[in-house]
Amino acid sequence: MALLTLPGLIDMHVHLRDPGQTWKEDFYTGTAAALAGGFTTVFDMPNNEEPIISVKRLNRKIKEAKKKIVCDVGFYGGAVGSSFESLKGLEGKVFGPKLYLNVTTGGFMIDVKKLEQICHIWHARQPILIHAEGRMITGVIDIVKKTSVKTHVCHVSGIEELKPIIKAKEEGLPLTCGVTPHHLFLNERDLSSLGPYGVMKPPLKSKKDQEFLWRNLKYIDVVESDHAPHTRGEKESENPPFGVPGLETTLPLLLSDKRITIGDVVRLCYKNPKKILGVKTDRTTKVVVDTNSQFIIHNSKLHTKCAWSPFHGWKARGKVRRVYIRERKVFEDGKVLVKRGFGKVMFPSFNP
Ligand code: NCD
Ligand code: ZN
Ligand code: ZN
Repeated sequence: MALLTLPGLIDMHVHLRDPGQTWKEDFYTGTAAALAGGFTTVFDMPNNEEPIISVKRLNRKIKEAKKKIVCDVGFYGGAVGSSFESLKGLEGKVFGPKLYLNVTTGGFMIDVKKLEQICHIWHARQPILIHAEGRMITGVIDIVKKTSVKTHVCHVSGIEELKPIIKAKEEGLPLTCGVTPHHLFLNERDLSSLGPYGVMKPPLKSKKDQEFLWRNLKYIDVVESDHAPHTRGEKESENPPFGVPGLETTLPLLLSDKRITIGDVVRLCYKNPKKILGVKTDRTTKVVVDTNSQFIIHNSKLHTKCAWSPFHGWKARGKVRRVYIRERKVFEDGKVLVKRGFGKVMFPSFNP
């Protein structure tokens, strides 16, 4: 056994589905999955059935979270159509607005014009988070150029997105980007075996795209799971919804790959998310991982309510043995040791 201690990891992109779609996941199962995966702080997306576009809805979400979370959770807000003015009220309360320029789960999309309007009214120091696939990225970069608004591009999946981002970064634009483990470890060839369990947004890309991500790891700021649970029934239906769970597999997958150093893991899953969102952390919040013994990722061992993973059957190293939050042991060998509500709801305290 070789035990490695890491700081409590931060996942800046998860969908915990609570309130509204708690048959897929809820604040307890989602944060238990976070602990099992070595994450002590997660940031939850606003595309709930009733999207988080007002303080009232955010407060309702926070109230629910406080009863159930077992790790720390921060929230994003989101704009739908014409209601973006109410976003202003979320400044100081959410870690940023998440804005969708392409169709995805929840179906609330805006266009580039609206994005520009939002960038003009959003004056908080938290970044704007963008879902922009393929060609949409160039419109986003133009707006960042014009408005200098700090922007994080979520789940970058291939050459068409990463190339212009690299150029923009080299020009010094305030742009960061994240990739998901599924875009790093899977490509469209896996679709034949995964079927609907490989359906997500952005879709899996070619091997060439996948290799481009790996070759340009130094331009990637964050690994974000985009943990997006849906039930097996939903996935096996005629119209499978987009998204795959990921909280419990990110760390073992990264630790199992020779191209990733421990330093990379800390940079991608702790230092950069901390810096981008301005997350306050505690030295006693840490994760103890066994990096030596191999294990098999298995659906039946997962804490996520959806109880499946696109990586079922994969061999991995890097099992999470223990997790501590603010000195308290919160997780050990597959078991959550604290009561529901132990986790804290985080608020932005940007101190760049
Ligand atoms: C996400 C979901 O299911 O909420 N789906 C996905 O495929 N990534 C939405 C998103 O992040 O775009
Ligand atoms: Zn997205
Ligand atoms: Zn997402």
